[in-house]
Amino acid sequence: MNTITAVLDYHDRTKHRPHRYAESLGYMDWATQPNPYRRYEGAPLIPLTHTEITPPYHLLFQNDSLPSAPLCLESLSQLLRYSLGLAAIKSHGGSEWALRCNASSGNLQPTECYIISPATLGISEHPTLSHYAPREHALELLHTYETPIPKDGFTIALSSILWREAWKYGERCYRYCQLDAGHAYGAIKMACTMLGWKCEIQSIDTKEIAHAFGLDQYERFHSEERESPDLLIRIGNASSLPSLPLLPYPANLLSPSHHDWPILSVIDEATQGIYPLAEPLSTPRSIPSPSKNAGEVILKRRSAQMMDGTGITLEEFRTLLDSSLFCIEASDVHFILFIHRVEALEKGLYAFVRKRDDLESLKLAMDQTFLWEDCKNGLYCLQKGDYRGAAQMISCNQEIAKEGAFSFSMLCDFSSSLERNGAIGYKNLYHQCGMIGQILYLEATSLNLSATGIGCFLDDEFHALLGLRDRRFQSLYHFTIGRAIVDTRITTLPPY
Ligand SMILES: Cc1cc2nc3c(=O)[nH]c(=O)nc-3n(C[C@H](O)[C@H](O)[C@H](O)COP(=O)(O)O)c2cc1C
Repeated sequence: MNTITAVLDYHDRTKHRPHRYAESLGYMDWATQPNPYRRYEGAPLIPLTHTEITPPYHLLFQNDSLPSAPLCLESLSQLLRYSLGLAAIKSHGGSEWALRCNASSGNLQPTECYIISPATLGISEHPTLSHYAPREHALELLHTYETPIPKDGFTIALSSILWREAWKYGERCYRYCQLDAGHAYGAIKMACTMLGWKCEIQSIDTKEIAHAFGLDQYERFHSEERESPDLLIRIGNASSLPSLPLLPYPANLLSPSHHDWPILSVIDEATQGIYPLAEPLSTPRSIPSPSKNAGEVILKRRSAQMMDGTGITLEEFRTLLDSSLFCIEASDVHFILFIHRVEALEKGLYAFVRKRDDLESLKLAMDQTFLWEDCKNGLYCLQKGDYRGAAQMISCNQEIAKEGAFSFSMLCDFSSSLERNGAIGYKNLYHQCGMIGQILYLEATSLNLSATGIGCFLDDEFHALLGLRDRRFQSLYHFTIGRAIVDTRITTLPPY
């Protein structure tokens, strides 16, 4: 099958419909619940350090305002601690679970992180390949290279263990894994900015990523628990990837048995290839006002499980929209918003056109009776009215979409992205949505608000509401922002 056909088939087949959700087990098989922590048996462990000192959050949004930290054990520790590390341990009714800095669908945490770094003080006199172990906040040393690599940068690879999400979500899980990878990238980008480091996704064949990081050494992984390469991040001026021999460390077994979802290998295989780089967004944005320290915002970020139905100010709303423009790599994503309670804005359906050039194609694609009333800086009112019921219904009946101050869809330039980039464009669009999601979570937290990513939504019901007639634009992620009602029965403990 042609890879684009495979993507279109998968996308259509995993849409949630009002009377038929995408295929999944339909119940929680607790006996096969995957371990959220990958470990490599026998690999030496290098403990990382902890620091509480982080810069003011608003400075992360000002270009080049933070000095560049040297690469050493402490700076690498800070990068990982504030991107993929544990943020809190929650406890209720005798059970305990860990939450991380990066949001993840159902907290199933499919994303794994590998690092190739040059000789680094406190880690090794030689370049190394390591795997991040978040529970221990440590590096598992997988390989030491003999040949030196330049010291002015390093490389991170992110991969997904699809099984971790398939366990709960079945066929739709490939989408969630990619959104989660985007969240992880967004988290890494923010932590790099804290350290004055520039990070960029690389355009490279995903099979090359798998090869350089040992993910295609299949004999080390259980066949149902292999890792699929997501993306490669270059921090500073990292050079080309060194070659890797067969590693002696087998991956731990995550579940005693598995359920097979054959469509997942089809979509995973179809979306390998040269990772595309979207043309960076150049929409002007404002800088948020001073609030808290970056570390405090990152560790406090939590998904709201209930919203209190109160409103927010126009300034807060604008700051939130603007913060999404920090994700210049995410230029194929627009927002369609259900505005319920934003001071000085009438309730209704709105569009935030993140890439201003797309305005005409959006207008053309949607219901021709929409108003497109210009509310300035990329925001347009499409229709006035109370959309609380519609927002809840479309978000699989979740009240958070109705009780937030607003909820919205990330509407992606779908078919032209696939035409331009091939099937891997599908993966990239989810990464774009995920990175925006992570930044919005943080921005909401800095404003003392809360957010929740919404992966469960009725795809075509939403498309029909917009009057979309073809696949030019597709909604790939939903989101809600407001004020959370905190469940006081759940206690929070420090993670380390
Ligand atoms: C891609 C994605 C989809 C999500 N979908 C939903 C959802 O549909 N409903 C919901 O209540 N929470 C959803 N969440 C929130 C997660 O359940 C939450 O991130 C996870 O439990 C970890 O909690 P934390 O965000 O507080 O760290 C989603 C999160 C992500 C990243």
